[in-house]
Amino acid sequence: MNNLSILKNFPSSFIFGTATSSYQIEGNKYGGCGKSIWDDFARKKLNGIDGLNACNHYEYFEEDIKLIKGLGFNAYRFSFSWPRLFPENNNDINMDGVDFYKRLLDKILEKDLEPFPTLYHWDLPVRFSKIEGWENKDTCKRFAEFSYFISQQYGDLFKKIATVNEPWCVSWLSHYLGEHAPGKQNLKSAVSTMHNILLAHGLSVEALKTNNSHEIGIVLNNQYAEPLDQKEENLNAAKLFDSIHNRWFSDAIFKGKYPELSLGVLEDYLPKNYDNDLRTISHPLQWIGLNYYTRSIIKYHESEDGINYKTLRGFLKKTDMDWEYFPEGLSYFIKRINKEYDDKIPIFITENGMANDDKLNSKKEVDDDDRIEFFNLHLKEILKCIREGLTVKGYFAWSLLDNYEWAFGYTKRFGLVYVDFDNFKRIPKRSYYEFSKYLI
Ligand code: FCB
Repeated sequence: MNNLSILKNFPSSFIFGTATSSYQIEGNKYGGCGKSIWDDFARKKLNGIDGLNACNHYEYFEEDIKLIKGLGFNAYRFSFSWPRLFPENNNDINMDGVDFYKRLLDKILEKDLEPFPTLYHWDLPVRFSKIEGWENKDTCKRFAEFSYFISQQYGDLFKKIATVNEPWCVSWLSHYLGEHAPGKQNLKSAVSTMHNILLAHGLSVEALKTNNSHEIGIVLNNQYAEPLDQKEENLNAAKLFDSIHNRWFSDAIFKGKYPELSLGVLEDYLPKNYDNDLRTISHPLQWIGLNYYTRSIIKYHESEDGINYKTLRGFLKKTDMDWEYFPEGLSYFIKRINKEYDDKIPIFITENGMANDDKLNSKKEVDDDDRIEFFNLHLKEILKCIREGLTVKGYFAWSLLDNYEWAFGYTKRFGLVYVDFDNFKRIPKRSYYEFSKYLI
C-alpha cells in the first residue's frame, strides 16, 4: 500500500491546497447562472452531457469547504463564473451570483484557508460566440471589465489572483484540435486565440492593477515533449511541439516575444501588428501557476499546414485518461521556469492529479491506492526542487471532487472525494485520508 508520509518533509511554510473550477462543480441550473460556450458545445457535441448539475457546489459549498479544511490544507483554488455573474450582458449583474461568491469567500476565510481565485476557467458566456469568442479582441476588452468588477467587488477578500487557466487549452485544444468548446478545427482561429487570450490576460492585469494591490499570476499547463527516438526529424518534431504547447505562452509572458520556431509556422495567422500587444502581455507578474499532468511521445508527421508532428501512445503506467505517469516532467518544468525565465518568481503547482476508475467497495469506501502513488511520485519531485533551492511554494491537488471532466462528462474521476452524481453525496477516498493523516 502506498502512503503520503513524504508530506512530513515539506517546510511548514509550503502551501497545500486543492483546485476546482466553476463550470466543473457549481451546477449552472442553480442561482440564475447564464449559459456558457460549454453548454452549447455539450448540446452539439457531447449528447447534451453538460454542467447543469455538476456537483451542485452552489448549494453544497459549505460542506465542500469543510472537506478542504478536513484535508489539513491551507488554500483553495477556485474560479469565478462569468456567466453566473453576468448572465445576459456585461452590465446587468446577477445579484444571486454576487452573493454566492461573497458567501463562498467568507466561508473560505472563516476556515482560515487562503483563496486562490482564477478569473477565467473556460466558461465564456455563450453570447460571445456571435462575435467569434476569443478570436475577437472585443472579448479581451470585456474580460478586462469583468476582471475590474471582480477586483472591485471582492478585492479585499483575497491576495493572489490568476487571470486565465491554461491558455493552450483555450486556444489550441479548443480551436485547432477541436476537443474543447467551441470545438473549432482551424489553424487561423487557433493562432488568433493563442494571441488574444494572452492579450486578455495582459488587459486583465492592467484592470486589476488600477483597482487593488493584488498579487497577480497566470496558470500555464506544460506538457513534456518526449521524442519517439533520437532521429533528427523526431527531435525537431518534439521541439516544435514544446514550442507551440509550452514556450509560446511562457516566452510571451516572461520575455515579451514568441519563440522563433513557432513563428516559423504560425506567424502568418497572427493578427496584424501583433507585436504591439506583447508589452501588455508581458507585464511583470507576482507569481506563476503551473499545471502538470503528463508527457507526450512525439513523432515527425508531415502535414499540409506545417504542424509536422503527431503524438503517440506511450508505454509507461497510465491513468484512467490514458495519460502516462511521468513525474520527472514536473521538476523539469519547475527548473525551466527558474533557470530560463525568472529565478525569483514564486511558483505554485496549481493542478496535478489523476483520473482513476474509482468504485465504492462493499464498505462504501474508495481505495484509490494508485492515486496515492501518483501524488507521492509528484510530491517527491517537488521536494527535490525545494531542496535544490528552486522557488516552488505550493501544491494544489486536482481535484477536490469528482466532477464534470469537460469532453469526458462525468466518466473520469479526479477527486480526493468521491461524488455520487445521483444525490450529490460526497465520500472521501483513501487519498483524502492520506493527506489529512500527515497534514492535520
Ligand atoms: C486541466 C484543467 C482542469 C481539469 C484537468 C484534468 O487541463 O485545467 O479543469 O480538467 O485538466
